Amino acid sequence: MKALYIERQGGPEVLIYGDMPDPTPKRGPVVVDVYAASVNAADWKVRAGGYDGGSPNAYPYILGRDFSGIVAETRYGADLSEGEEVFGVLDVGQEGAYAEKVAVKASIIARKPVWLTHVEAAAIALTGLTAKISIEDTIQLKSGETILIHGGAGGVASMAIQMAKHIGAKVITTASPSNHGYLRGLGADEIIDYNTIDFTTVVSGVDAVFETAGEDVAHRSFQVLRPGGRIAFIASGATAPPSPRDDVTVLRPAVGRDRPHLERVLDLLAGRAIKVPKTTVYPLSEAVAAHRVSETRHLKGKLVFQAR
Ligand SMILES: NC(=O)c1ccc[n+]([C@@H]2O[C@H](COP(=O)([O-])OP(=O)(O)OC[C@H]3O[C@@H](n4cnc5c(N)ncnc54)[C@H](OP(=O)(O)O)[C@@H]3O)[C@@H](O)[C@H]2O)c1
Repeated sequence: MKALYIERQGGPEVLIYGDMPDPTPKRGPVVVDVYAASVNAADWKVRAGGYDGGSPNAYPYILGRDFSGIVAETRYGADLSEGEEVFGVLDVGQEGAYAEKVAVKASIIARKPVWLTHVEAAAIALTGLTAKISIEDTIQLKSGETILIHGGAGGVASMAIQMAKHIGAKVITTASPSNHGYLRGLGADEIIDYNTIDFTTVVSGVDAVFETAGEDVAHRSFQVLRPGGRIAFIASGATAPPSPRDDVTVLRPAVGRDRPHLERVLDLLAGRAIKVPKTTVYPLSEAVAAHRVSETRHLKGKLVFQAR
């Protein structure tokens, strides 16, 4: 199969488009012909190195976490059939979606409805799962609460804003000015230009914070919570940063993979509670360009590789 892989960590130029052996199914998995795979921030972090979410333990190494495609092969009683359209995220610790084929557990992927294209399904898999688990399961946001969601135009945060509005919460978000119109369209109530305004000077007493930007934004976010508030981190590594306060709940969402969570994201899409983000499509052979855009960290919407 054709795949996009690395032989060592480094800049976007270490990405190689070439031939790799087809994946070998282990006990239980289905083999999926991949039609689309999305670019996530984790991909360039793993490519570049220094990411505490993990580094390759062997090379060549195929990047990529979420995908959409058609079941090509099933083994050992998987409850999916050859020819079914499916989408999802590879298992925790498993990568390899930047390829024409993946082998994956049937139980962690979902059937793709006909009203969603492969590009759209790949675009919402990991971001949808992460936002759903963070907002609904981890923060357990309630109607009438106020939440600060950092980096609103990002892949995960733009999903989270829509989910928070669907719950009935008030949403404050941070973004560069070019994204403010986009975020108003997603329902954000207040938008702060973090380039010119320190959010800690204009936000206080919120019920919850969803922190997706990392570094100093993470540390300063504790200040804006009310006593008893909740704060969830996804951009500060595998664990939440140490809290300077003992009167707030600090959370690190555990973004597992399973079919019911993906089906919940589909329900929200079907009910028009959330929308598929604007996607830019690249052929798998143009990964260098896509990674250069993703790692600017000023992306609006999603980048998706069309694999076939
Ligand atoms: N399982 C997990 O734990 C999990 C899953 C998915 C993602 N993540 C992590 O979550 C983070 C976000 O992922 P993503 O895919 O949503 O990223 P993304 O789409 O690349 O996010 C880009 C966004 O970050 C915003 N941003 C950059 N610097 C900022 C700052 N100082 N303050 C506020 N916003 C800032 C940008 O806003 P402007 O362009 O408006 O400036 C842009 O909209 C990444 O660190 C990723 O690794 C973790």
